[in-house]
Amino acid sequence: MAMAPPPSSHPSLHLILAVSAFLAVSTLIFADGLELGGGEGDGLYREILRDETVLRLKELGKISDGEGYLERTFLSPASIRATNVIVSWMKDAGLTTWVDQMGNIHGRFEPANCTREALLLGSHMDTVIDAGMYDGSLGIICAISALKVLKNAGKLQRLTRPVEVIAFSDEEGVRFQTTFLGSAAVAGTLPESILQVSDKSGTTVQDVLKLNSFEATAAALGQARYSPESVGSYVEVHMEQGPVLEALQYPLGVVKGIAGQTRLKVIVDGSQGHAGTVPMKLRRDPMVAAAELVVTLESLCKDPNKFLTYDEECGCFTEESLAGLVCTVGELLTWPSASNVIPGQVNFTVDIRAMDDKVRETIVTSFSRLVLQKCDDRLVICAVEHKHSAPATPCDPELTTHLKRAARSTVSELPGRTAAGETPVLMSGAGHDAMAMAKLTKVGMLFVRCRGGVSHSPEESVMDDDVWAAGLALLNFVEQNVVAELEAEQRAAVAEL
Ligand code: GLV
Ligand code: MN
Ligand code: MN
Repeated sequence: MAMAPPPSSHPSLHLILAVSAFLAVSTLIFADGLELGGGEGDGLYREILRDETVLRLKELGKISDGEGYLERTFLSPASIRATNVIVSWMKDAGLTTWVDQMGNIHGRFEPANCTREALLLGSHMDTVIDAGMYDGSLGIICAISALKVLKNAGKLQRLTRPVEVIAFSDEEGVRFQTTFLGSAAVAGTLPESILQVSDKSGTTVQDVLKLNSFEATAAALGQARYSPESVGSYVEVHMEQGPVLEALQYPLGVVKGIAGQTRLKVIVDGSQGHAGTVPMKLRRDPMVAAAELVVTLESLCKDPNKFLTYDEECGCFTEESLAGLVCTVGELLTWPSASNVIPGQVNFTVDIRAMDDKVRETIVTSFSRLVLQKCDDRLVICAVEHKHSAPATPCDPELTTHLKRAARSTVSELPGRTAAGETPVLMSGAGHDAMAMAKLTKVGMLFVRCRGGVSHSPEESVMDDDVWAAGLALLNFVEQNVVAELEAEQRAAVAEL
């Protein structure tokens, strides 16, 4: 896999290569045979922002480690195949590409003699197991498409700051039970200890990196880090993964903030035994204990005030602060997992999210207390391991205003729309790379309507026209903010809002 240095040490050779590559292909017919009138025409760029983007989403959606379903986890064989495809699309958009030491793919355009901070765009290339094709991929491909339009229109050279697309190697955290391996490395918050974390088969992050010819040392991880001074902002396009925009009949929304999340692993140890011979009264069965804990978690999150002690309530549980509190057990494993054996051990994952960090922390504490209590009652031994926590993340108000404006003008421009109302403003219950990137820079997010609010499922669906709207809104945002002539105009317009 092609490796190259991070942008702090970008040799100007990269720039020269990128510019000459641009000059070499700046005809009006492009690699995929799609034609675009060099920025002329109706200015809606349907061929690239809709048709090609959708084709590419489908292509990426087929690159899977699973037979007949989509699964692409951190540095899996499919993710390496996907890397090559994404790199080729970035090149096609006139970008200089490299893969960093955590497997993140970068595609950057650096205007000549520009020392300003970069605008970063992107999302994640990994997926959950049995995933849909839009979660993550939509943000990567829309960003590449928007820059391809700028390239074809001859506007990349007029960028007033470097613009870079990043396809993050891991956001879902499926393989290592953690999240943001990719974006946290870029933000510089990935601890060195991550190298020793192992997956279910005992393979560590370090093993996987080495297997794929990465250096896999703490120093190498440090190379993936961007300095805060080199970055101006990060913008992510993502499918909504919820039903709000569909209900509002609006294709795009902007995100005010992202819920905080905690992930735990609960390990329940009991007495393994024969299913036919051990009387019910003498059992120490970790399966039923786990079942009780799963139901306890559900009750706690449905009706927190019923469970909390006076101290835990701390006066913070108003209806508003409880909004968005959700708790999930998504994975439960038993050992030895046979129908005629009382299990010896059961472990399961817990995912707790809330907009209010205090609420989330209190739920984590009270669930941990309830686990110990219930396990004592059932004479099993339980441990709660803390896997991951991220605080709620506000999006930057100024960026959000710019995105809102870009979304509004886009929606009114597209065929079939006369006047567009205000762009909806949403909170995100799902986690996003923007959470990790917020440790590095200002973040903004654009949400795209999806069918039925369904995500993390092969049933994920975004209408082709909404994919188009997302790409066009991102293009408008980039044009209005980082293309020379329009930047000042846009700032003045926003100031007037
Ligand atoms: C990522 O998709 C998450 O919110 O779990
Ligand atoms: Mn996801
Ligand atoms: Mn996602």
